[in-house]
Amino acid sequence: MSERSYRVGVVGATGAVGSTILEVLAERDFPASEVVALASERSAGKKVPFAGGELECVPLSGESIQGIELALASAGGKISAEWAPKLIDAGAVVVDNTSYWRMHQDVPLVVAGVNDDAVEGHSGLVANPNCTTMQMMVALKPILDAAGIERIVVSTYQSVSGTGREAIKELKAQSRALLDGEEPEVEVFPHQVAFNILPQVEVFEAGDDYTTEERKVMRETRKILGLPESVGISATCVRVPVVTGHSESVNVQTERELSPEDCRELLSGAPGLVVVDDPGEGAYPLPIDVEGRDDVLVGRIRRDPSHERCLNLWVVGDNLRKGAATNAVQVAELLAERDLVRPAAAASFA
Ligand SMILES: NC(=O)c1ccc[n+]([C@@H]2O[C@H](COP(=O)([O-])OP(=O)(O)OC[C@H]3O[C@@H](n4cnc5c(N)ncnc54)[C@H](OP(=O)(O)O)[C@@H]3O)[C@@H](O)[C@H]2O)c1
Repeated sequence: MSERSYRVGVVGATGAVGSTILEVLAERDFPASEVVALASERSAGKKVPFAGGELECVPLSGESIQGIELALASAGGKISAEWAPKLIDAGAVVVDNTSYWRMHQDVPLVVAGVNDDAVEGHSGLVANPNCTTMQMMVALKPILDAAGIERIVVSTYQSVSGTGREAIKELKAQSRALLDGEEPEVEVFPHQVAFNILPQVEVFEAGDDYTTEERKVMRETRKILGLPESVGISATCVRVPVVTGHSESVNVQTERELSPEDCRELLSGAPGLVVVDDPGEGAYPLPIDVEGRDDVLVGRIRRDPSHERCLNLWVVGDNLRKGAATNAVQVAELLAERDLVRPAAAASFA
């Protein structure tokens, strides 16, 4: 990394992702001359933990963004729609965790370790993919490189922290209420999530029988891996009563035959992946084992008996770490290493 250090703004510093970004920045010793914790007016003066101490939150405003060189944003799509262009105009490079800019043609969508070179073309903004997409990319990129990919079918089992801190509170409160024989309150999710499974992550837009989350997984996968339209991608996203850690059943059809044994060996040496695959001994990836870890775990690697070039995999990752915060910080590190933290020349995202 270059000798420079940066004035870093964490937008959404009180949130599930923002607070994890602060944790990861400190853990990885990111070269920050100062870290500014930005949130809404509601959090003005609130203290958030950082590097063994605390930072005082400052409301996001025209004034508070001045002098920020690198902004890591996770305050929701509406905030990024409005504030990313303002941050860029003020001279910052933005690494955005929300879905708002991901499919924009001038915005690289980057999974560190998968498509690092995409950062080179940034015009002030680099997008962090959706958490569900992110962990699948880590597992599929080595397979794409080794055997090509013709089709992907994924079903997800997503934890509630993917929806943010209010959703974590809701799962806990509902669980307590139900165990006490009381009626659970339903606010964040469309139905009771405790002791239940919801085949809906995010919303159905008018006329679409896929959810916005499923559309994101399908579109973002194609953009990150550079897959042509001829490659089929199908996603079903499901919410489960787990606090942290998304799990995925991935069925991948390769162009060239890849045996489960070769796939296991290939993935064992891949960056950011750990193979946990001894099912007879009860060894397979579990969300409780991945919480707080940056690695994506993969197991249950087996042949799909219905197709000679299809494999089934079970992929588990911490949605708040590699799925969001860790990748955002890794992207920031890539930008720093390549000396790409500098005001955009003439881009306008307005
Ligand atoms: N959770 C995940 O696993 C995950 C993964 C990848 C991407 N994402 C994306 O990251 C974003 C945040 O997710 P989250 O789970 O961290 O949500 P969250 O826990 O609900 O946190 C939201 C954050 O946004 C801030 N905020 C809200 N309104 C604001 C405003 N008007 N001005 C400035 N800050 C404002 C909040 O500050 P206050 O405390 O002041 O309200 C809080 O810090 C979403 O776009 C989400 O899709 C989430």
